[in-house]
Amino acid sequence: MSETVLLIGGGGREHAIARALEESDADLYACAGNRNPGIARIAEGFETLETTNPEAVVEYAADVDAGIAVIGPESPLEAGVADALEEAGVYAFGPKEADARIETDKAFQRRFMRENDVPGCPDFETFDDMEAACDYIDEYDGDLAIKPAGLTGGKGVKVIGDQVTAEEGKAYIRESDYDRIVLEERLIGEEFTIQAFVANDTLETAPAVQDHKRAYEGDEGPNTGGMGSYSDATTHLPFMTENDYEEAVSIMEATVDALEDYRGILYGQFMLTAAGPKVVEFNARFGDPEAMNTLPVLETDFLDVLTAARDGDPVPELEFAGRATVCKYAVPAGYPTDPEAGAKVQVDEESVARAVRATQDSSGDEPRESAGDALLYYASVDEREDGIYTTTSRAFAVVGVADSITDAETIAEDALEVAGDEGLHVRHDIGKPDLVQRRIDHVNDLRGE
Ligand code: AMP
Ligand code: GLY
Repeated sequence: MSETVLLIGGGGREHAIARALEESDADLYACAGNRNPGIARIAEGFETLETTNPEAVVEYAADVDAGIAVIGPESPLEAGVADALEEAGVYAFGPKEADARIETDKAFQRRFMRENDVPGCPDFETFDDMEAACDYIDEYDGDLAIKPAGLTGGKGVKVIGDQVTAEEGKAYIRESDYDRIVLEERLIGEEFTIQAFVANDTLETAPAVQDHKRAYEGDEGPNTGGMGSYSDATTHLPFMTENDYEEAVSIMEATVDALEDYRGILYGQFMLTAAGPKVVEFNARFGDPEAMNTLPVLETDFLDVLTAARDGDPVPELEFAGRATVCKYAVPAGYPTDPEAGAKVQVDEESVARAVRATQDSSGDEPRESAGDALLYYASVDEREDGIYTTTSRAFAVVGVADSITDAETIAEDALEVAGDEGLHVRHDIGKPDLVQRRIDHVNDLRGE
């Protein structure tokens, strides 16, 4: 029997989810605040609505007779969309509002780790008195990360000693009107993401991914929602050991144990420090861009995961293709501080589909088809009658899939070239050999190797 699935959200991550369900026996419907042309094309129906309005989502779910819903972004989780769907008899793959606090309330998240003895928690304090927070900065021996407790799309964190000085950090706290902030030990190392599929007290993890938060090449500029990301053909990344990956997975297992009845994706953001992996944060959903690295190499039918979760079964053992991926976002000029919304985006999808690169074989003369794929994902663009327009967020992404990160990166670049990224900004350094080598050198330095 086919299943009717409602997908909530209209970004690149949700386009990747739609693709993962496209091949399966799902009747897919989708709703989002923007009309994402990639999702709209795959889905049998697409409704533009406010996804943080639980009644609107439930009404559409009833209209299409959905049995399962997949919630992509964090804002509907925070608004209680999963709770409302459950009440209406729709199985929501995404945590209830109270469980989503693991992401939506960073103060709760840190206290939760401390109270449940989850390993990998940095030293932290929470504050609702901003002057007391400034005093703590003056007294603390070392650098601190300043984190607003609520959602800021990854853009509210300021790290002393990295992005700001202590004085600038205090000025930031005083100028902002946050009710509550977390001050925590600055972690030094390399970041990576592990996404776990969780249901019925079981979890299965995907290969690690490294996102790039800073807006400009060389990790300069303001933090963004993520400019691009890569994963390797192995579960771990070139700067990690398999043991680092396993250690991070065990932190996620301890978290899921302590959460009880959590369901959906649990996203662990880790810093690989000299003392091993530490938790930067948890999210209650797939990462964006990380979903675009993970779902194209997921060989298990995503619908099987959803139905097992709904039926009270363990999450099926996940199979991954064992291939590397490199994802690069094209974002509006000025993103994230002053993004140019309303610009027309022209994407040549046909050419991207053909952008499978011909590489030279080892003898250097006979060209051969590289075993690679180029994928295109639409993100926060809006399709109108006369074309596709940017919003204030990321426009589209390309993903190269190949046997090595280097080949995947070349494919992603070729895809970008033919897709046409005029007027948009891209971090071309993501996945290039010298940036990956810098990550390896960084960790080797920290470990004194
Ligand atoms: P978050 O919204 O918690 O993911 O933070 C955004 C970014 O800020 C992270 O991806 C890190 O680059 C940085 N960050 C957050 N917490 C820390 C920390 N304790 N030490 C160093 N950097 C951090
Ligand atoms: N790529 C970071 C996030 O999805 O939060």
